[in-house]
Amino acid sequence: MSRVLTGIQSSGKPHLGNLLGAISPAIELAESQSEPAYFFIADLHALTSIRDPSQLQGNTYAVGATWLACGLNPDKHVFFRQSDVPEVTELAWYLSCLTPYPMLANSHSFKEKSANLAEVSAGLFTYPVLMAADILLYQAELVPVGKDQKQHLEITRDIAGAFNRTYGETFKLPEPVFREEVMVLPGIDGRKMSKSYDNTLDVLGDLDELHKRVKRIVTDPTPVAAPKDPEKCTVFRLYASVAPAAAVEEMRQRYLAGGYGYGQAKEALFEALRERFAPQREAYREWRSDPSALERVLQIGAEKARSTAVQTLGRVRQAIGLLSLSKPTLS
Ligand code: ADP
Ligand code: TRP
Repeated sequence: MSRVLTGIQSSGKPHLGNLLGAISPAIELAESQSEPAYFFIADLHALTSIRDPSQLQGNTYAVGATWLACGLNPDKHVFFRQSDVPEVTELAWYLSCLTPYPMLANSHSFKEKSANLAEVSAGLFTYPVLMAADILLYQAELVPVGKDQKQHLEITRDIAGAFNRTYGETFKLPEPVFREEVMVLPGIDGRKMSKSYDNTLDVLGDLDELHKRVKRIVTDPTPVAAPKDPEKCTVFRLYASVAPAAAVEEMRQRYLAGGYGYGQAKEALFEALRERFAPQREAYREWRSDPSALERVLQIGAEKARSTAVQTLGRVRQAIGLLSLSKPTLS
C-alpha cells in the first residue's frame, strides 16, 4: 500500500475538466490505498502567476471547497494548504543546491515563457524544485498528475536520486500515475476546456450562469431536420462524459436519426450537469459560505502534514551537515 500525494495549483476556480480529469480520479486512487493520502492546495506555486492577494485567497477557498465537495475525506486523508507548511520552502532550497541549471532551463514550464525573459521570475524558473520538495518532503510514492506534469516528475526523481547519491539514502523515488483513460474534455468553444481559454463550465457554481454557458456551446450550422455526427459535437461529447450510459446511447440515436436540434441537446446536457453534480453543488455552497469551517479543516491537515514534514527535514539537515539544526521541533 502506497502513499498517494498530489498538489492542486490555486490559480483559478476548478471546472468540469478538472473535476472529471483530475479531482475524482485522484480521490479514487487515494481511496484504493489503506495509507492516508496527502492532498494540498499549491498556493505557493500559484504565486508564480497571481499577484492579487484577494484573488489568491478566493481561489484557495474555491479549490479547497471543490475537493471537499467532491468527496475528499479530510478525516482519513491529509488535506492542507502548501503555505501552511513552511518546511517545504526550506527543503526547496536544499534541493535547489543540487539541481543543475540546464535541468531547469530545459523544463517546459520555463521554455514556454522564455521568449520573454524579462517576464520570467526566479520563482517560475525554480517552480519544479518547489514541486520536488512538495513530493519528497512527505515521502510520497504515487503522484496522480496530468500528462503535462510528466517532466516535473522526472525532475523530482532526478533530484531525489542526486540527493540520495550525495548524502545517502534519504528519499523515496515517487512514481507518477497518469490518467490515460480520461479523455480531454472540450470547452464551450470546442478547444480543450481550460481556464486559460475562458471556455470552462463551472458545474458547482450558480445554475443560471451554467445554463447560459451551456447555451453558448459552439455547434455547426446543420439544420434541425438533418442527421448529425455525435462524435464531432461538443454538446454530445460533454453529455457523454456526465450522463448515464443508456441516456448517452439514446442521444446518439437521436443525433443519427435527424430531427433533433442542438438546442434540445443543450437542454439535456444542462439537466444532466444539474442532476449529476447536485450533491456536490450543495456541499460546495456550504463550504464557501463558511470559510472558517474550511480553515479549521485546513489547519488540522497542516498539523498532520507538518509532523511528517519536520521528521523528513530533520533527517535532511542531519544528512547535509547542518548538525546544529538536526533536532526537529514543532513551533
Ligand atoms: P487549466 O487547463 O484549466 O489551467 P490545469 O492545468 O490547472 O487546468 O489542470 C489541472 C489538471 O486538471 C490537469 O493536470 C488535468 O489532469 C486536468 N484537466 C484540465 N483540463 C482538463 C480537460 N479539459 N479535460 C480533462 N482533464 C483536464
Ligand atoms: N504543478 C502541478 C500542476 O500544475 C501542481 C503541483 C504542485 C503538484 N506541486 C505538486 C502536483 C506536487 C503533484 C505533486 O498541476
